[in-house]
Amino acid sequence: MDLNSLQSCLSRLPLGQIAYFDEIDSTNEYALSWAEAGARHLSLVVADEQTAGRGRSGRTWFTPPGAALAFSLVLNQEELGFNQITRITGLGALGVCQVLKKIYGLGSQIKWPNDVLVGGSKLAGVLAEANWGGDELQSMVLGIGINVAQESVLPKSELNFPATSVETALGRPVDRWEMLKELLEAIIGWLPYLDQTEFLQAWEENLAYQKEWVQLISEYSKPVKGRLLGLESDGSLRLELPGGETRFFQVGEVHLRVVDRS
Ligand code: ATP
Ligand code: BTN
Repeated sequence: MDLNSLQSCLSRLPLGQIAYFDEIDSTNEYALSWAEAGARHLSLVVADEQTAGRGRSGRTWFTPPGAALAFSLVLNQEELGFNQITRITGLGALGVCQVLKKIYGLGSQIKWPNDVLVGGSKLAGVLAEANWGGDELQSMVLGIGINVAQESVLPKSELNFPATSVETALGRPVDRWEMLKELLEAIIGWLPYLDQTEFLQAWEENLAYQKEWVQLISEYSKPVKGRLLGLESDGSLRLELPGGETRFFQVGEVHLRVVDRS
């Protein structure tokens, strides 16, 4: 891939500027600096390889060359007109689920808040980051990483959650640039509806572990066990605790795990 080919592949989409890198530290890092320097709404950064791809809380996101999709989209607050950061993570994850279904007929679920699972294994991750000007939100960067080929999947010994790729799940090669085009189209298509219940419902319908017993694990407090009921309008997770009480959990430094089904 090169910038010219990428531009012509995405020419029908109403994007801002486009940047392409064979290798970069992190597309989110680049997009945040670009946003700060005034990048237009829907500016896009795509990389073949990331040497310091990141997940939540500075964890590493593995993106070897030729095997994954890694990109970041700048969303300007003025254009969004809707100030709910958590919905941007949902937007990315929902877009991935819808595109996997649309182009490959592949079912997937969102492991709240930011991972996409296929057959119980992580296939994609979403990292939404904010660009603040003082205490005012200027723009958001929506970063998405998708494991396309098996080479993008780290060995089990290096993962705390099983992982897979699109090609492993389908058993055949796919065109990652077609996937990127469809995914951007899906994301851009949802933008005017981000504040609507229709969006929240679609996000909720794609949640993994619905009605199942799950645990929220945090380094800072005791694990909380509950039955997964759904989402609140701000993207918080709704759990029914063992005593029957309903509680909400905000996106934060928590890990969601299903409770052993056996
Ligand atoms: P989890 O709940 O799965 O532990 P998390 O929220 O703690 O996820 P994330 O920040 O979502 O962690 O994801 C980063 C983690 O994903 C890394 O610590 C690493 O273990 C794993 N990881 C890194 N690269 C990939 C990849 N390409 N595919 C799948 N998993 C990856
Ligand atoms: C996670 O699961 O914690 C989120 C992973 C997000 C990875 C993507 S790849 C493109 C963009 N650039 C990054 O450095 N991170 C995101």
